Amino acid sequence: MSELTDQIKAASDYISKFWDEKPLAGVILGSGLGDLAEDIEDAIEIPYKDIPHFPVSTVEGHSGKLILGYMSDKPVVAMAGRFHFYEGFSMKQVTFPVRVMKALGIHTLFISNAAGGMNPDFSVGDLMIIRDHINLQPEHPLRGPNESELGPRFPDMSEPYNKELIYRAMEIAAMNQIDLHSGVYVGVQGPTFETRAEYKYMHIIGGDAVGMSTVPEVIVAIHSGLRVFAMSVITDIGIREEENVITHEEVLEAAKAAEPKLTLIFSELIRQL
Ligand code: HPA
Repeated sequence: MSELTDQIKAASDYISKFWDEKPLAGVILGSGLGDLAEDIEDAIEIPYKDIPHFPVSTVEGHSGKLILGYMSDKPVVAMAGRFHFYEGFSMKQVTFPVRVMKALGIHTLFISNAAGGMNPDFSVGDLMIIRDHINLQPEHPLRGPNESELGPRFPDMSEPYNKELIYRAMEIAAMNQIDLHSGVYVGVQGPTFETRAEYKYMHIIGGDAVGMSTVPEVIVAIHSGLRVFAMSVITDIGIREEENVITHEEVLEAAKAAEPKLTLIFSELIRQL
């Protein structure tokens, strides 16, 4: 066993001691989107700092604990707080929890994030299903020797976001009168928000929204053979011509306001698992 597989085993063995259920799905909650965790029943909370080899997150709005419990009567493991490359973690650390959730037994990973909108049809508070991404992050989580027991050397990325889950999410949204966009998420390092020229550039290359997370976790999820569903809350619009200053507080506020819609879609998708 390699060092990484040893660490995954140590973390998942530790977590398994708290719960004799096997989670079907993992849920990663983005900035300002942690309220979904309150819908988890019979919740067992494990602070990241107690889990062997888990990094500990530092960003405001990310509480930093793993939650085991039931959503829509299905066993899930949720991360309240995620790790970002801009915090100084390595890509291996950023994606370590995905490896651990896979080892716990999940087959599907749900991800939420706050993102800036570049599509002129988007407004603050809108939801966007991620149907594809463009990776502009400067490091790759799979760089280095491949561990074939974890996944292939050259993973296919032609369809990282599961089509059936996207289709079902659209049905759920329509049934509940929720407007839903779908689009391309551009993953960047941060921590600066983009300049106007950068938002424009990202729109020209095919992006609809931009954010500082998600892409590394999706890559590792695909490497591990997981199904992925991901959704962005549009918390700011980068391409407006008028004065347009973006703050972290504004991002958190917009995410919080849109959160109930996102929770509804995630919990209905989980019900159908
Ligand atoms: N850019 C990058 N990340 C973000 C943004 C943004 O505009 N909004 C929320 N996260």
